[in-house]
Amino acid sequence: MSESNIFPVFERMLQRSHKEKLLRQNSKVLWVYGLSGSGKTTMAIALEKSLHDRGFLTQILDGDNVRAGINSNLTFTKEDRAENLRRIAEVNKLFYNCGLITINCFISPLKENRDTVREIIGKNDFIEIFVDTPIEECERRDVKGLYKKARAGEIKNFTGVDAPFEVPENPDIRVETTDKSPEMLVAEILNVVLPQLYY
Ligand code: ADX
Repeated sequence: MSESNIFPVFERMLQRSHKEKLLRQNSKVLWVYGLSGSGKTTMAIALEKSLHDRGFLTQILDGDNVRAGINSNLTFTKEDRAENLRRIAEVNKLFYNCGLITINCFISPLKENRDTVREIIGKNDFIEIFVDTPIEECERRDVKGLYKKARAGEIKNFTGVDAPFEVPENPDIRVETTDKSPEMLVAEILNVVLPQLYY
């Protein structure tokens, strides 16, 4: 690659701080992760609504949406998942430099995936939220019918069935979704997150 022919102009542009001041919020990356069917997207939608009602400008980035668009050329191999998440992390940089709060919903199955993303974004701008729903419960819900297909061998490399998910040891926030409404989960998250978002 000819890096020497690339001339980034970031320092001449308006900075993130100017945009944060305009929006009167601190930009932040919320990284919501866990098994397929764990409730990431449902919770993210409730969280976004709640932040919007408080006057924050947010953007949800979701696995199924992103994989239907910018990452439509990627599969679910270990390598493609890593590339999926690397690109999303770079997209997050664009958003937080605009002063926005992003809410990401990606399985992010491996510790090394989460480490890479945290490194690209920077520790101080990154809040990890692990949606800890047991696979039995995800499979019982099976909203998209994908567990059934994976068990029947119609989908390969399905997380939790024939592809790994590494449970995190120290997420910033861990929520259990069984027997809790999205509103209850949002309240738990806001407790930790809100103080960091106020300008
Ligand atoms: S990640 O592993 O690269 O982080 P991502 O969050 O983008 O995954 O995509 C997960 C979504 O893709 C799931 O919610 C599910 O709807 C769909 N999907 C399709 N095939 C698979 C698979 N083999 N493993 C996991 N999810 C899959």
